[in-house]
Amino acid sequence: MSTDVNVKMDAIPGLDPNAMPLQVKDLHVEFRTRNGIAHAVNGVSFDLQPGETRAILGESGCGKSVTAQAIMGILDTPPGFVTGGEILYRGVDLLKLPEAQRRKVRANKIAMIFQDALSALNPVFTVGFQLGELFRKHRGMSRKDAKARSIELLDLVKIPAARQRVNEYPHQFSGGMRQRVMIAMALALDPEVLIADEPTTALDVTVQAQIMALLAELQRERNMSLVLITHDMGVVADVADRISVMYAGRVIEEAPVNDIYASPAHPYTKGLLESIPRLDLKGQELSAIKGLPPVLTNIPRGCAFNPRCRYAQDVCRHDPPVPLYQVSSARTAACHFWKEVKGDE
Ligand SMILES: Nc1ncnc2c1ncn2[C@@H]1O[C@H](COP(=O)(O)OP(=O)(O)OP(=O)(O)O)[C@@H](O)[C@H]1O
Ligand SMILES: [Mg+2]
Repeated sequence: MSTDVNVKMDAIPGLDPNAMPLQVKDLHVEFRTRNGIAHAVNGVSFDLQPGETRAILGESGCGKSVTAQAIMGILDTPPGFVTGGEILYRGVDLLKLPEAQRRKVRANKIAMIFQDALSALNPVFTVGFQLGELFRKHRGMSRKDAKARSIELLDLVKIPAARQRVNEYPHQFSGGMRQRVMIAMALALDPEVLIADEPTTALDVTVQAQIMALLAELQRERNMSLVLITHDMGVVADVADRISVMYAGRVIEEAPVNDIYASPAHPYTKGLLESIPRLDLKGQELSAIKGLPPVLTNIPRGCAFNPRCRYAQDVCRHDPPVPLYQVSSARTAACHFWKEVKGDE
């Protein structure tokens, strides 16, 4: 579906159609809480080519959703503040844009599917009304046209009997169908970048697979860039091009998906891979990573992962933080012992 009303993005100076749809550079976010400053995002960088899928992976609390919220400009402020870095859309730093222009980019170019579909939909309006509102508000469509467009979108996300279901309320949809509605809403204005934050966590396994397949199909058709946030390493294997693994608010390994699966270079990534349940090892205990991620008000010195790491030595326990080592031309890892971890030594 193409945008039929030309969106006036030319009012934003410096937009470069040849620049990448999204580039995050050295992003820092902190939460100023009663218990101290929680360092939720500590220098996250990644970029996204057109049509590319970037998975952001990591345990609960490592800063995945906060990164997404910062990109979308929907951080809970206060207590959350972006304290450094850049978020570039086609070469323009969104953090420096006036709010009105930023809102325009957010509405039209960068869309997000939230972790919790049920609370993102309004229970008192029909699904058709909520979809239609996007077209009425942002595209100036009539009620009739907006409804026709909404039905098309429900069809697109493969909701059966779209013509009838467009008049139903969110609670009348199953979890999987609701997530399809969320995808429809995210795609309504034809974004270039879609951020999907754990789009399938609340769903059962077969429905998860269907939703992931649908997302992948829609992305391919539209050459859309996708940021897929998940803590499930199993989910990303089939769909992602590149992976950023996060730990305590940092990207600790960044690589093409196949490289990571073949030979992880950070002990944390290795641990995540070993925790994927394997059907051929029935009954065998999972070698999940021991211990818990740090509290973000008190991140360990040196490498944040050192207390849980079987490779850790003295150098990992002291400042300065571990630099990002260039493992190959296409990948980096924040581990002094990456060669050993990878099995190169
Ligand atoms: N509203 C808030 N107030 C204070 N601290 C917050 C708030 N939101 C997030 N944080 C802090 O940021 C950290 C990262 O949260 P985030 O939601 O990004 O985790 P996540 O990686 O998305 O985890 P999950 O897999 O559970 O969704 C939290 O552990 C918490 O310390
Ligand atoms: Mg989250």
